Amino acid sequence: MLKNTPRSYGSVARILHWLTALLILTELPLGLIANRGGFDIDRKVQLFSLHKTLGVAIFAVALIRILWALSQPRPASLHPERRAETLLAETVHWVLYAALVMVPLTGWIQHAATEGFSQILWPLSQGLPFIPKSESLAAAMGLAHQTFAWMLVGSLILHIAGAIKHAAIDRDATLSRMVRGEHAGPGHHGHRAAPAAAALAIYAAGAGIAFAMIPPSEAPVQRLEAVASDWQVTEGSLGFTVRQMGTDVQGSFADWTAAIAFDEASGTGQVTVTIAMPSVTLGTVSEQAKGADFFDVAHHATATFTADIQPEGTAFIARGTLNLRGAEAPVQMPFTLTIEDGIATMQGSATLDRRDYAIGQSYADEATVGFPVEVQVNLTARR
Ligand code: HEM
Ligand code: HEM
Repeated sequence: MLKNTPRSYGSVARILHWLTALLILTELPLGLIANRGGFDIDRKVQLFSLHKTLGVAIFAVALIRILWALSQPRPASLHPERRAETLLAETVHWVLYAALVMVPLTGWIQHAATEGFSQILWPLSQGLPFIPKSESLAAAMGLAHQTFAWMLVGSLILHIAGAIKHAAIDRDATLSRMVRGEHAGPGHHGHRAAPAAAALAIYAAGAGIAFAMIPPSEAPVQRLEAVASDWQVTEGSLGFTVRQMGTDVQGSFADWTAAIAFDEASGTGQVTVTIAMPSVTLGTVSEQAKGADFFDVAHHATATFTADIQPEGTAFIARGTLNLRGAEAPVQMPFTLTIEDGIATMQGSATLDRRDYAIGQSYADEATVGFPVEVQVNLTARR
């Protein structure tokens, strides 16, 4: 029998139930290991790719399962007279159904809202329509994903404990109804609103907890002190691009200062750029980028670039030294510059080699992290 009856689960419902059980019981530990296991980046990326891919697959199976369940009668509880027990069991079923949608959906939105690092190995599923790239959205969805995943763990413990109780203590047909499709139970079933309402309240509480955990705006950061400069930077960005696992990942520094002296007549000058290394963001691996193996911000809180500016062709070049992570190497950055009404606009880029600064030494080849790092600077300054 493919279909349910009021006294039995059909084979479609049973196959979907046990397939989901298998997938979920694999996915939960995978998420925990990927998120909390102390692995190096490439292993973490692989585990997360696997977790996300399986998660998207679970989402697809879950939607099919829910559509099927909606089209079917739900076999009634074997002991509807045990009111509290039945209410609890049905509430847990609703919470589980909700989790099958909300857990993968929040994970997927988190993934779509952030600059991808570990990819979904599933064609056409990296982004989601209407989901903007936003760090704060990603952080909120990450917290919701974790909270909902733990609610899933809690409800599954109750669910499995209930199944064991029915089999071992009540010795009734509840488990064999789901395993073998046995017919059992009073047969009639009515749709009851209380368990669904209880599940909704539990989910609302979970969402409330997740959103209460969102840190108030940005964590307070110690900004670099302003520097004295002939030219004051009014706006600008300091970004970089590095190739990771075959895709270009964009990073940037939020906090940096520039002391600029520039003589318009001769086109020469000096510049000193100071960068607050803890202000780095790099897709989903900002924390790893700050770690000992990469920028080691705990020991090297700032980087400095000191250079002389000279005209070069129709544009300019800054030739100097970058002191990064305690190592020094020469850097040349060609840039364009226009000055109008005392407002200077410059744009430049330079390519560094991470090996010059002993960054990512445990990645000796380019498979995980490329050697060249392109730095892009854009700024507007006022005299
Ligand atoms: C070892 C793991 C599991 C066992 C032993 C188990 C056992 C059972 C049993 C015996 C039922 C029938 C309950 C009844 O007839 O009233 C059931 C129903 C159900 N199970 Fe599981 N289950 C497991 C895992 C899961 C997982 C991982 C999920 C989803 C996340 C899940 C979701 C559900 C839902 C939603 C129902 C209600 C089906 C309906 O009537 O529409 N179960 N389970
Ligand atoms: C039913 C499917 C899923 C389950 C059961 C699940 C479960 C989990 C668990 C248990 C964790 C660790 C939570 C912790 O450490 O406290 C986790 C983390 C994570 N999962 Fe999932 N997940 C699922 C689907 C997905 C999907 C579809 C994606 C993305 C496409 C995803 C992305 C993530 C990410 C990025 C994290 C890290 C948490 C963070 O943002 O800080 N998950 N997941």
